Amino acid sequence: MQIVDGDAGRELPLSAAATPSIMPRLEVLGSAHGPAVTLDIAAGRLLDACDDARAPVSFSCRSASCGTCRVEVLAGAALLDPPGPDELEVLAIFAASPAERLACQAIIRAGDGLIRLGPVDD
Ligand code: FES
Repeated sequence: MQIVDGDAGRELPLSAAATPSIMPRLEVLGSAHGPAVTLDIAAGRLLDACDDARAPVSFSCRSASCGTCRVEVLAGAALLDPPGPDELEVLAIFAASPAERLACQAIIRAGDGLIRLGPVDD
């Protein structure tokens, strides 16, 4: 593979090539459970990203039963897989807004962009 500097027309070493980011950035606003955090994350479970970041999201059952981990998705909803039936059932019990998700159930997709979450405090 050859990388060519478009302006100068010269060949560049591979290390000089810009590598596109496919990792979303996660921002969780501060709450009663701790200060705000921001970090680049890999695709996978939002629960794991919150644990790794020590995000200020409160968890209890971690299995779509209690609704403790509700977060409002303020940006980047397209970077999350749609909620499954178990998550939808719990969100309905809490009469959650369409922007709310269960942090223990949401799955992060690979992609570039920002996911901004606001923990829901009852
Ligand atoms: S921690 Fe109980 S529903 Fe997510």
